[in-house]
Order: sequence, then C-alpha cells, then structure tokens
Amino acid sequence: MLNFEFYNPTRIVFGKYTLDNLDKLIPAKANVLIVSYGIKEMSGLIDRVKTVLGDRKVLEFGGIEPNPHYETCVKAMELARNENIDYLVAVGGGSVIDATKFISLGSNYDGDPAELLQFDGAPLSSEVINKIKKIVPFGTVLTLAATGSEMNDGSVITYGKMKPLIQDENIFPRFSILDPTITFTVPKKQVANGLIDSFVHAAEQYITYPVDARIQDRMAEGIMQTLIEVGPTTVAEPENYDARANFVWCSTLALNRLIGAGVPQDWTAHLIGLELTVLFGIDHGPSVGIMLLPVMDVLREQKRAKLLQYAERVWHIESGSEDEKIDLAIQKTREFFESLGVKMRLSEYGIGADRAQDIVDLLKEHKYTAMSENGSVTLEVSRKIIEKAL
Ligand code: NZQ
Ligand code: ZN
Repeated sequence: MLNFEFYNPTRIVFGKYTLDNLDKLIPAKANVLIVSYGIKEMSGLIDRVKTVLGDRKVLEFGGIEPNPHYETCVKAMELARNENIDYLVAVGGGSVIDATKFISLGSNYDGDPAELLQFDGAPLSSEVINKIKKIVPFGTVLTLAATGSEMNDGSVITYGKMKPLIQDENIFPRFSILDPTITFTVPKKQVANGLIDSFVHAAEQYITYPVDARIQDRMAEGIMQTLIEVGPTTVAEPENYDARANFVWCSTLALNRLIGAGVPQDWTAHLIGLELTVLFGIDHGPSVGIMLLPVMDVLREQKRAKLLQYAERVWHIESGSEDEKIDLAIQKTREFFESLGVKMRLSEYGIGADRAQDIVDLLKEHKYTAMSENGSVTLEVSRKIIEKAL
C-alpha cells in the first residue's frame, strides 16, 4: 500500500425525510443563500428548504447551469458579499455543489476570483489563500447522485474552453443531506449518467497496478458490483427506495477519497471526457464512460494484473486466456452501460474520425500530455484511445 493522508470532515445525514435536520445544522442567526439550478421541478423542494430554515434571512440564487459557468458563479459571489451571507446551502447535484464551493471561496476574495481556479493541478498558493478574506461555510441537499461532490474537496468550473478543477480542503461541505427520495424526480437519463459516472470514479481508482491495498480494492469492487446490481432497477423504478438508497451511497463513497487513499489512480478517462463535454456538450457521465472502455483496452499491458482482477472479481470471468478475459470484461462493462440506455460510441453522438484531432489539440492546449498512473498516455496514445471510442 502507498503512504497516504486521509481527511474528510463532511457530516452525512442519510435517509428518508431527513431534510428537517437543516434547522439544527445551520446556525440560528445565519443569513443564508440557497444556490440551485432554478428549474421549476425544484421549486417545491426549495420551498420546503425555506420552511425548515424558518426565521433566518434567506435569499435564493437560481440559474446554475449543468457544467457551471464561471460568470454565473461570480454573480452569486456578488450577491453573497452584498447581502452579508454567512451560510450557503447548495440544493442540487454536482454542478450546483461545485458552483457553491467556488462561491464559498470567492465571495470575499480580495482579487480576481479566476485566480482560485487551478489550471495545472497545483494546490492553491499561499498568496491566493491569503486573499480569501472569509470562507463562507456551506452544506448541501443532494438532488442527484453522480459526482461525489457532496462529500469531497473538488469543484469543476467551466471557464471558456477549460474545465479547471479547484481542489482544496476548505471546500469540503460542512454537511450533506442525502435523502434518496429527493432524487426520485431525476429523469432516467440523468440517473443513468450518474450510475456511469460513479462506476468510472471507482474504476479509475482501481484499474491501475496492484500495490497490495486489499481493502481499497475490495471497497472499489464492492461499489462497482453494487452499481451493477442496482443500476437497471434504479433506472426502471425511480421510486424503489432500496435500490436508489444503495445507488446514492455508492456514488458518494466512490469519490469521497476513501477508496483512492493509498493506491495509484488514473484519471485519463475523466480528463479526455471533460474535453468531450467542452467540445461537443456530451453529458459528464457518458463522456467518461465512453473513454473508460478504450482506456482499459489500449492500456491493457500496464493494467494487466488489475484488469484480470477486475474480470475475475467484478464480472466473475474464470475461463479463457488472459486477453480473452480482459476483452470479455471490457465487453461486459460496455453492455452494462448500454443496458442503462446510454450510447457508448462517439459516432452515436455524431462525432467522426475527422474530430479526433480537435480533441487531441485541446488535450495539448491543456497540457494533458502524460496522463495515466505512470504518465504513459502521450498525445499519440490519447489519439489511439479516442479512435477506439468512435
Ligand atoms: O433536468 P435539468 O433541467 O437538466 O436539471 C437538472 C440538472 O441540470 C437535473 N436534476 C438534478 N437533480 C434533479 C434534476 N431534475 C429533476 N429532479 C432532481 N432531483 O439534472 C441536471 C444535471 O445536473 P448536474 O448537477 O449538472 O449533474 P451532475 O451531478 O452529473 O454534475 C455534473 C458536474 O459535476 C462535475 C462535472 O464536470 C459537471 O460539471 N464533476 C464534479 C466532480 C467533483 N466535484 O468531485 C467530479 C466529477 O467527476 C465531475 O467532473
Ligand atoms: Zn466524474
């Protein structure tokens, strides 16, 4: 096992009808800003949140887009600063929570908030941290399971053609309310997207090379197996509480940093997937699922031992040569994603071989020229991966 430090201060309140807990989780005298998508399907939930918040001063900022835009977040920061907001509540999925994280750091930032965006994966510098005059604490009410943002320290903001990440321990939510019944209204397509995103999170912290990290491996396998078990049910039966509860908790655990502690990680599928969202507007879940399949295929030599473990333990494939087992595991992964109703080839999104260069160019612009657990994914290897996804 590799050395690691693990820290996660987010309180999870999980279960049916747990929204009322908001009242005790937020200081009685707080001025609260609710951050949300602002869509009408959510208005009933926002009203319930307001009722629970009682006499506190409560303002709303709706209009956070999927793949939240920098400019929208900056508007919310202005509102929070001008209204003296001292607590934020994100009511939404990954996009709303990520936006809220950025608003939390940026509302009282003494400078251009774009300085908080990390384009090169480097931590925030002390110079930048010193310019954050106050971090506005926040909690979340999760409406869509997918990203794990409700219990992690990451935020992805859309900034022009870039999707920079902010990763900093100051943006762990103080608490997250995970009431699976709140996610019942999520359209089937978004549920399927979330299942795939969660699966890929677990896979990318697992399909690398063995370091004898047995519990991390078994947790990752457990998450993937549970998603395979409950996935089709939770898409077909949105109000099946048990299936949805298992999905929601898997999704959180897949990216709360626990299974990734002490193991190598390979975020190639995510990094190429983010470019697909920027260039072609493909939703986040499919974008990373589409790329995971060829990543497993093209990088099979460096990932051989873990791919075989994946084939045997997750898919129970016991016969055939090593390569046959790996091929079958990739095939079964594809079938699982497709069984959820999601298209898994770039060509099905109207993207042909002529666009491969655009994707490679963007990877180059973003300096993603040595990806994977050992830096082997050069632009040339990325091109091979992309071509296999067509
Ligand atoms: O139906 P629409 O109008 O599209 O409305 C929303 C939303 O736009 C809908 N929705 C959400 N909850 C609902 C609901 N509809 C009905 N009932 C509900 N209860 O779903 C749409 C998509 O929501 P979004 O928040 O964009 O989805 P998701 O949670 O997948 O978040 C994606 C964002 O998270 C980032 C992605 O890059 C992307 O920007 N990620 C964040 C990560 C993190 N912070 O750790 C890691 C991830 O890998 C990912 O990169
Ligand atoms: Zn993801």
